[in-house]
Amino acid sequence: MTALETDYLVIGSGIAGLNFALLAAAHGKVTVITKKKPTDTNTNWAQGGVAAVLASDDSFETHINDTLIAGDGLCDREVVELCVHDGPNQVQRLLDLGVRLDRDATGNLDLGKEGAHSKHRVVHWEDITGREIQRALLSAVESHPNITILEEHIGVDLLSMAKYGGDPACFGAYVLDRTTGEVKTITARATVLASGGTGKVYIYTSNPDVATGDGIAMAYRLGATCGDLEFTQFHPTVLYHPHAGTFLISEALRGEGGVLRLGNGESFMEKYDPRGSLASRDIVARAIDNELKKSGADSVFLDMTALDPEFTKHRFPNIYEHCMALGIDMTKQGIPVVPAAHYQCGGIKTDVDGATTIKGLYAIGECAMTGLHGANRLASNSLLEGMVFSHRAAAAVREIERHAPSQIQPWSSGNATDSNDAIVVALNWEEVRRFMWSYVGIVRSNKRLERARHRIETIRDEIREYYVDFKITSDLIELRNLALVAHLMIECARRRKESRGIHFSLDYPEKLPEARHTEIQLTDGPRSL
Ligand code: SIN
Repeated sequence: MTALETDYLVIGSGIAGLNFALLAAAHGKVTVITKKKPTDTNTNWAQGGVAAVLASDDSFETHINDTLIAGDGLCDREVVELCVHDGPNQVQRLLDLGVRLDRDATGNLDLGKEGAHSKHRVVHWEDITGREIQRALLSAVESHPNITILEEHIGVDLLSMAKYGGDPACFGAYVLDRTTGEVKTITARATVLASGGTGKVYIYTSNPDVATGDGIAMAYRLGATCGDLEFTQFHPTVLYHPHAGTFLISEALRGEGGVLRLGNGESFMEKYDPRGSLASRDIVARAIDNELKKSGADSVFLDMTALDPEFTKHRFPNIYEHCMALGIDMTKQGIPVVPAAHYQCGGIKTDVDGATTIKGLYAIGECAMTGLHGANRLASNSLLEGMVFSHRAAAAVREIERHAPSQIQPWSSGNATDSNDAIVVALNWEEVRRFMWSYVGIVRSNKRLERARHRIETIRDEIREYYVDFKITSDLIELRNLALVAHLMIECARRRKESRGIHFSLDYPEKLPEARHTEIQLTDGPRSL
């Protein structure tokens, strides 16, 4: 059995994990594990950009207010302030790392606008900003002598001193090497979850396949406090096409003047919000959902035809080409779009340095609940958050002491045998994702949530049996995590007796006077397996 020792174990290779790795490598050895290739991340798929106050007509106070308004009373003001104030520094760091960002005719950074931003403030590289950031970070990480990347490695469970009679301090993780099937033990002074979001809990999502909530599930099983998991953000505009797979149509299109229309050409968003197509995501997603339910249509349309076609092709080359390949010329016709699960605003509770409630365990990026997003994330604040908190966490772990028992138990599969029934995993996976969309989607109710709770408990019973009887595989680990995270999302949604931000309940359509986080942990929430 392989046992590895490092200073900092990072789980995940998106913006937060890689930026942490680079900064922490200045004072220790870093091991980054990533469950497929290092570019299989939500970051790599991000189109919009990074929000930061850079324009002369913008101000920190305006960005702070836009974030607080989108968050619908649930943001932590101190966290919002520190992120917004750090924005320009983090954009400079990206430039220093060699990230290319578009510039306007005068040579200044070109600033895009997205829903619920009152100013132009989104730096971007064409419509593939995340891919460009991932490229630059990865190239720096790959050439760093203090950083090792282990591809095709997925975390199974975190290691806890509680198993050895101590407090529950985390000292690393059991990790499955997907290529050999071996479970390795990696011990570390600090373990940093940068494992991204939970989009794959839903059948329709803008996220890549890796977004199965692994970090949140592992942290919860260890006893860390998680929260606000009812706040899944649904992006209003994901391409609707039988052969499209998952493809985001960036909010930046509406920022440049794109208008949402029904099949008959009617612009409908003005009925729902004075900001029209540029209202915040929760409002736009709910409005589209409502219109689709009323009409029975398959999609609405995003109309870019009023814009200069050359501008559209130049500003959104990736989206233009993708649509053209499917026979949709966005300079001449509306793009068919529907809402889909996009971003997890809740996650593992952290302080302003990314520390969770468990000693030695940190969470940064989408898997964390820092307090920045509240009940609804403002567009393009997430890459910013990834940069700000990876920076803070890297500084915080510098002096952290190593916890580890003298003798570490190697991973044991007990009497588990090789599975000959992998179809069970596939069917359970499919079922969770379908009922989560129907019962814990854009519009919720007590009855729908109750049905979802009942279904997830039955499915998790089946998964438990399967997990105990058969040797673990990557698919089984992901299913176990996905089902636990779905359970936590249902439970958080059941506990919120109001409608706020992205969480809308037919039974509690009003907002309560006081905004409160939904916190959940092993002692008062669903069982760990
Ligand atoms: C988009 O380009 O619409 C996504 C940006 C984001 O989710 O922040």
